[in-house]
Amino acid sequence: MSVLDSFRVDGRVAIVAGGGGAIGSAIAEALGTAGATPVIVGRSAEHVEASAERARATGTEALALTADVTVEAEAERVVAETVARFGRLDIIVNAVGGGAGKVLFDAEQYPRDAWDWIYELNVRSALVPTQAAVRAMIAGGRGGRVLNISSVRASLGINAGYSAYVAAKGAISSLTRQWATEWAKHGITVNAIAPTFVDTPQVAMLLEDPAFKAGVVNRIPLGRVGGTSDLTGPALFFCSDASSFVTGQILGIDGGLTATQ
Ligand SMILES: NC(=O)c1ccc[n+]([C@@H]2O[C@H](COP(=O)([O-])OP(=O)(O)OC[C@H]3O[C@@H](n4cnc5c(N)ncnc54)[C@H](O)[C@@H]3O)[C@@H](O)[C@H]2O)c1
Repeated sequence: MSVLDSFRVDGRVAIVAGGGGAIGSAIAEALGTAGATPVIVGRSAEHVEASAERARATGTEALALTADVTVEAEAERVVAETVARFGRLDIIVNAVGGGAGKVLFDAEQYPRDAWDWIYELNVRSALVPTQAAVRAMIAGGRGGRVLNISSVRASLGINAGYSAYVAAKGAISSLTRQWATEWAKHGITVNAIAPTFVDTPQVAMLLEDPAFKAGVVNRIPLGRVGGTSDLTGPALFFCSDASSFVTGQILGIDGGLTATQ
């Protein structure tokens, strides 16, 4: 296999949880471009169908499924429908999450309802679909790929009320390493990407403030925030044979931000 071919994912089937969102839809499209069939999962029928259309424009088949992936029965239904339709499951990308800037409280007052919401959105949203997907990968006997989305916030504190998000992304990075050790025996690799600000609707309002944006950009050695296209190459690496001997790793996609700390 040539080195370029090792980045292709022809014939593989990939669940993209949160595939109707900004980062998930970009990754689903990239997987389609590289030959995979994405199964795009989210709560909004309109968003998952729009993302599936975008993936289909690359020439691949794509399936849009509506589900709340934090609910076990719904995650299992998604996996069952995927295997029934395509006969296999090779990849899961966990792109549900966020809420970072929406619930900011001083650490000593952080309220339980906000804490639980952030954990549900960022940790259970990866835990539940991954458990269902990995059970199918183990049954399929072909190995697999799990790709999580952590954040630079997993390793960098910030004096701005982010306790729950920082803890939740820390949990995602820790689970990435833990799952890698448990599932290596099945040929399943587990890795994560850890972006800094990516220019998406979730952070657009924050970045509209020129002073806030300048503060962010000044801390990033490469001098800009990320775009979703900055994530797709690394995502493809982790979802393909190009990363066959890489597992339990968290790749910062942050323009050098963490290198400055
Ligand atoms: N945007 C950034 O700057 C940035 C930076 C670092 C990390 N991240 C992480 O990247 C991931 C994706 O972020 P994004 O900006 O694409 O967010 P997004 O809101 O655009 O996408 C998330 C998608 O998940 C869906 N979703 C939420 N809960 C769900 C559930 N229970 N079941 C099914 N679908 C559900 C949402 O409807 C949405 O379509 C998140 O984990 C986020 O924390 C984002």
